[in-house]
Amino acid sequence: MGEVDPAFIQEPEHRPRISYIEGEGFPLIDLAPLHSSNNVSAIEGLVKEVGKACKEWGFFQVINHGVPLEKRQKIDGDSRKFFEQSLEEKRKVRRTEKLVLGYYDTEHTKNVRDWKEVFDIAVEEPALIPASPDPDDKEITELYNQWPEYPPELRETCQDYGQEMVKLARKLFELIALSLGLPADRFHSFFKDHNSYIRLNHYPPCPTPELALGVGRHKDGGALTILAQDDVGGLEVKRKDGEWIRVKPTPDAYIVNVGDIIQVWSNDKYESVEHRAMVNPEKERFSVPFFFNPAHYTMIKPLEELTNEQNPAKYRAYSWGKFTASKRRSNFQKLNVENLQISHFRISD
Ligand code: OGA
Ligand code: NI
Repeated sequence: MGEVDPAFIQEPEHRPRISYIEGEGFPLIDLAPLHSSNNVSAIEGLVKEVGKACKEWGFFQVINHGVPLEKRQKIDGDSRKFFEQSLEEKRKVRRTEKLVLGYYDTEHTKNVRDWKEVFDIAVEEPALIPASPDPDDKEITELYNQWPEYPPELRETCQDYGQEMVKLARKLFELIALSLGLPADRFHSFFKDHNSYIRLNHYPPCPTPELALGVGRHKDGGALTILAQDDVGGLEVKRKDGEWIRVKPTPDAYIVNVGDIIQVWSNDKYESVEHRAMVNPEKERFSVPFFFNPAHYTMIKPLEELTNEQNPAKYRAYSWGKFTASKRRSNFQKLNVENLQISHFRISD
């Protein structure tokens, strides 16, 4: 990436600080009670912890999550093998406006270019999404993954990993449902034809880490994200008091965050929180987020059980498929318009 292209430079108020605050009460949740015999009080304790973390941070780390370490090591190793290749090799599986899955090195977040390269994989194939954000256009596009020649096992690795992530995401949703006073399976039907994907992120060393970001500040637009980060560190989360907090890497832990959809379903009880990733001049960094999303035809609106006369719905219903189709377009190219946000569906009070 060499000389710093102005496209990467963040506005002064969004530039990272080179000294940072780490940890500081970032919730760490032990999911062991999920795997042991039905210890009712341990599960109740877990539900409380999850509820508190969702409310106070919108983010937490989990350990004893049940995902075999070998599967995580496998995807991490294969991701490194893929990104190590020449740009020419990687571009053979590059994303285009039509083929929206695959390799990509010019993503923009809020119209500033990110210091990273990514490889996107749909967990279920074909992934179905609306052909365009236009509400009158009923056409649905089928998305297929593109697989590189090297490493040859990447496909199987990602398929395996995706299934593990789906299992974990479903368990987390049971805890979230219980924490909202809902039946454990309340959210399952939304994910019957889920539209989830895995992203391999590679953040190369950056000569000007004080000006650029690996990924600029953003909220995740989907339901729930489960992130594996390596031991380099760089993820920062905006604490409720506005301070950016660096999440200290914990070996074999996953970082979980509430996406915009949970914010809407819960009618703002659990908010989707801004986060970003810093880069550094010496070390490259890898991360693997899994984005758990409902089916494209899902209309997202506050759950009836969580609204009433005193607490009316704060959002109008919107189509997840159309929302994501619009976001994808804005990530693909720099646009001179504000990107679509859930706040556009907020009912003003
Ligand atoms: C993302 C993201 C953070 C990271 O890809 O949405 O927030 O640490 N990534 O890679
Ligand atoms: Ni994110």
